[in-house]
Amino acid sequence: MTTRAVVKGIGHYLPERVVENAWFEDRLDTSDEWIRARSGIERRHFAAEGETTSDLATHAARAALDDAGLAADDIDAIILATSTPDLTFPSAATMVQSALGMTRGFAFDLQAVCAGFIYALSTANAMILSGQARRILVIGAETFSRILDWEDRSTCVLFGDGAGALVLAAEDGAGTPQDRGILAVDLNSDGRHRDLLYVDGGVSTGTTGLVRMQGNQVFRHAIEKLAATAETALARAGLQDDDVDWIVPHQANIRIIQGTAKRMKHSMDRVVVTVQDHGNTSAASIPLALSVGRARGQIKRGDLLVTEAIGGGLAWGAVVLRW
Ligand code: UT7
Repeated sequence: MTTRAVVKGIGHYLPERVVENAWFEDRLDTSDEWIRARSGIERRHFAAEGETTSDLATHAARAALDDAGLAADDIDAIILATSTPDLTFPSAATMVQSALGMTRGFAFDLQAVCAGFIYALSTANAMILSGQARRILVIGAETFSRILDWEDRSTCVLFGDGAGALVLAAEDGAGTPQDRGILAVDLNSDGRHRDLLYVDGGVSTGTTGLVRMQGNQVFRHAIEKLAATAETALARAGLQDDDVDWIVPHQANIRIIQGTAKRMKHSMDRVVVTVQDHGNTSAASIPLALSVGRARGQIKRGDLLVTEAIGGGLAWGAVVLRW
């Protein structure tokens, strides 16, 4: 018998305000046509004034707990993947913990930018397999609208705000690839590429800073690295491309999503795509896509999923899990 970390419930939250591509046409030298053609994005949600990452995360966490039929005190830990925490410290995760009324366990943030949710799933999985926790709330939440340069058309049209959360819990498995739960993980980073995508502020500058990206350079790395990490994770699980029911990719750009699927010889009708409605929500994009994919009836119990992401660092990785 093997312990597996199995998804028990999932939920998401998107801020009320929806901004269509046309909104940018009045402010910048850009067009709905360019944004759609180059990125696949049609609209995104932006948080209201005063609405923080921990607010979005709390909504998503409540939805995931409800879906799992659990209360906050049934949870041993909260891991919140974000690059846009409310404050430098304490962690946004502890803010979610208190908002949920959770009086036990532990909570912390994890930062691996757009790959954050993959890193968080991997960390939660390791904690469950080691027996350190039995039930973990894993959240990805971002308010990237707070760190966008509204005069930089090459970045500000791409990002959005949102949150997704899931409950992972220990369950006995047979130790075969037919088990439900996380079957394999692959994580990577290469700090030599840190200048391709970064925020030009932080404690060292005394400012919050704004997103800076050499988009076409990141693009080049993305397809090659995402397909490779997905293949590595699948091989580690003893599975192949053919076994995959759904690819659930980080939602940065439809052309990256299509290119990765093509390399994996996987047709697009088995890829969960939400980028048109959410834009790039960084660490929130994968739990959002998982939650929306489940709500649409795409992802069903027993399906084999491979989920992958890349972002600033560069940091990238993949998780193979059976739903
Ligand atoms: O989630 C973290 C990881 N991030 C990503 O995965 C993002 C990866 N990169 C991308 O998604 C794409 O590179 C972009 C969507 C950012 C850009 O697409 P691209 O096909 O790589 O275009 P490009 O950067 O090579 O720019 C092409 C042209 C440039 O003009 P020139 O130099 O050819 O005259 C840009 O100035 O498009 C111009 N451009 C725009 N034009 C209209 C850049 N942004 C815009 C814009 N509207 N918003």
